[in-house]
Amino acid sequence: MGAPFPFDFPLPTAFYLTLYLATLVIHVAFMNYVLAGSAYLAAFAVRHGRDSNRLTDHPLAGPLRDWMPFMLSAAITAGIAPLLFIQILYQRQFYTANLLLFHRWMAILPVLIVGFYLLYLLKSRIIGEASFVWRIVVGCGAFACFAFVAWSWTENHLLSLNESAWSDQYASGRLFFRDPELGPRLAVWFTGAFPTMATIVAWQWWCLARLGRPVPATANQSCTRLALSGLATAIASAAWYVENLAPELRDQLVSSAYRPYLAAALVGVILQAAGWLAGRNQAGLQRGRLVLISAGWLLTVVGVSVLREGRRLAAIDVTALYDLHADAATVGGLAVFLVFAALNAGLIAWCLVTVRRGVRNQAP
Ligand code: HEM
Repeated sequence: MGAPFPFDFPLPTAFYLTLYLATLVIHVAFMNYVLAGSAYLAAFAVRHGRDSNRLTDHPLAGPLRDWMPFMLSAAITAGIAPLLFIQILYQRQFYTANLLLFHRWMAILPVLIVGFYLLYLLKSRIIGEASFVWRIVVGCGAFACFAFVAWSWTENHLLSLNESAWSDQYASGRLFFRDPELGPRLAVWFTGAFPTMATIVAWQWWCLARLGRPVPATANQSCTRLALSGLATAIASAAWYVENLAPELRDQLVSSAYRPYLAAALVGVILQAAGWLAGRNQAGLQRGRLVLISAGWLLTVVGVSVLREGRRLAAIDVTALYDLHADAATVGGLAVFLVFAALNAGLIAWCLVTVRRGVRNQAP
C-alpha cells in the first residue's frame, strides 16, 4: 500500500468505501449526541433528581432532555445509509456476525424502541411531577438501552473481523462475543461522544441566542468543561486501545496509506481543544469559535473513521471482494439512493425549520 486511503483500491471498492465512511460520519454525530447525552441525563437524574426544576434550567440537561428523541430518530435514520454500504462492502463478514450473535443482535430493535419511549417519558409532565426515584429509573433506563446498542455494534464489528473465532462461537452457542479489543474500543466511542455532544449543544444555544432566547450564563463554561474532559479521556482511551493492538496493526496506523488520517485526527483534536480553551472565560458562544471547533471535530471523526476502516481491512482479504464490488456497481440504484437521501435530508431540515419558527414565535 503506497497511496493514501482509498486511492490504492479499484474504483468501485474506493467508491463504496468513501460513501460508507461519509455516511458513517453523519451517523456518528447524532449517535454521539444520544450516547453522551443519555449518559449525562442519567448522571444528572441521580445527582439532582429531587429537584425537577433544575432539569429545565440547566444549560446541558435542559436542551438534552428536549432534543433527545429528535436526535435519536436522526441517529437511527443516519445509520441506514452506512448499513446499506456495509452490506455491499463486507456482506459475508457482516451477516455472519449478525447470525452468530442471533437473538443478542436482534435485541437491538426492541431495546431501541424502549429507549425511544423512555426519552419521551423523560420529557413528560408525568415524570416531572413523579417521585425522583422515577426520574432516576427512566434516565438510567434510557442510558442503559443506548449503551447496550453501542456495545452490540462494537461486539458485532469485532466478531465480523475474527473469522477464526466463528466456528467456535457457533459451536458454543454463546450469544456474546468476548474479545480483548471490546473494552478499550467501547471506551473510545463512549468518551469520544462527549466532545461531539458538547459542540452540538453549544450550537443549539448559539441558535437560541440568535432567536432572542435567554442563554444561561454558564452555558459556555458547561460545554467547555464537558468537551475538554471528553477530549482528555478520549485520548487516554485511544492510547489504551492502541496499546492493546497487535504490533502489525499499530504499524499500519503510521503507514503511508493511513498516516494522513492519523495526522488529521490529531490536528482536529488540537483545533477543538484550542477553540474551547480560547473562549473558556467568555460569557457567550461566538460563531467563529464554534466553526473552528466543528472543523476540528470533522477532521478528528473523519480521521478516526478511516483508521477504524484500516483496522478492518487488516483483518479481511479485501482483494477477494473486488469482483463483488464491481458487480454491485453495475446494478444501478445510485439515483434512487441519492433521491431518498435528499428527501430525508429535506424532511429533517423541515422539522428543524418548524421548530425554529415555533421558538421564534414563542414568548420568551
Ligand atoms: C442510539 C443508537 C445507536 C448507538 C448508540 C450506536 C452506536 C454505534 C457504535 C458505537 C458504532 C461503532 C462500532 C465500532 O466501531 O466498534 C456504530 C456503528 C454503526 N452503526 Fe450505530 N448505533 C446506534 C444505532 C444505529 C442504528 C439504528 C443503525 C442502523 C439503522 C446503526 C448503524 C450503524 C452502522 C452501519 C455502523 C457501522 C458498523 C460497522 O462498520 O461494523 N446504528 N454504531
